[in-house]
Amino acid sequence: MRRLTNICLLALPFLAIQCTDAGNDPTPVVFSVSDAELYAMQGAPDGWTFFGLTADTLAGGSTTAHEPRVRVRYNRRAATQLTAAGRVAAGALFPDSSLIVKELYTGSTLTTIAYMFKLGRAENASSSGWIWSETDGNGAVKISASRRGTGCVGCHSTGTDFTRMNDTHP
Ligand code: HEC
Repeated sequence: MRRLTNICLLALPFLAIQCTDAGNDPTPVVFSVSDAELYAMQGAPDGWTFFGLTADTLAGGSTTAHEPRVRVRYNRRAATQLTAAGRVAAGALFPDSSLIVKELYTGSTLTTIAYMFKLGRAENASSSGWIWSETDGNGAVKISASRRGTGCVGCHSTGTDFTRMNDTHP
């Protein structure tokens, strides 16, 4: 059994990853971040910053993957990579614990929440270090984080550290 003292705990609602290494167990820490944890994180207060500094929904730029109206927000850690105008900075590289939440609306109904959470050490992160997930507005899983971004990274690889908002909202 893995020793509790050697597990990284996701410290909600602080969105910080705390590691304690009190033992001498050389077993590498293996953990993943679940869809439910991502849903909980997006609902927690974390000084969210909206793309473009506006809480209005914007026209989505992806006709195939996402619904027509979008609103994207960044947790405090992710917001370190935004400009003063709330856009992704040139050459941005999001630090671990960055969470980007994309809310997708059909009319005024929140139909999908898409997540990009940076945590390179997580076993369900894609090679870029991002964990990818989609739920509906109530947290029911649509595309599980366990898929490691299959079906997401293809479109996103052209973006700034895999983020696409700057391309579609110049
Ligand atoms: C067909 C291409 C495409 C696919 C597939 C795709 N996306 Fe996106 N995604 C975009 C585009 C384009 C944007 C920029 C916002 C917009 O214009 O809609 C975006 C934006 C986002 C954002 C906001 C952060 C940003 O700037 O990129 C998140 C989070 C996101 N997508 C998550 C996902 C997840 C999770 C998946 C897979 C389940 C996925 N996307 C699959 C095209 C795609």
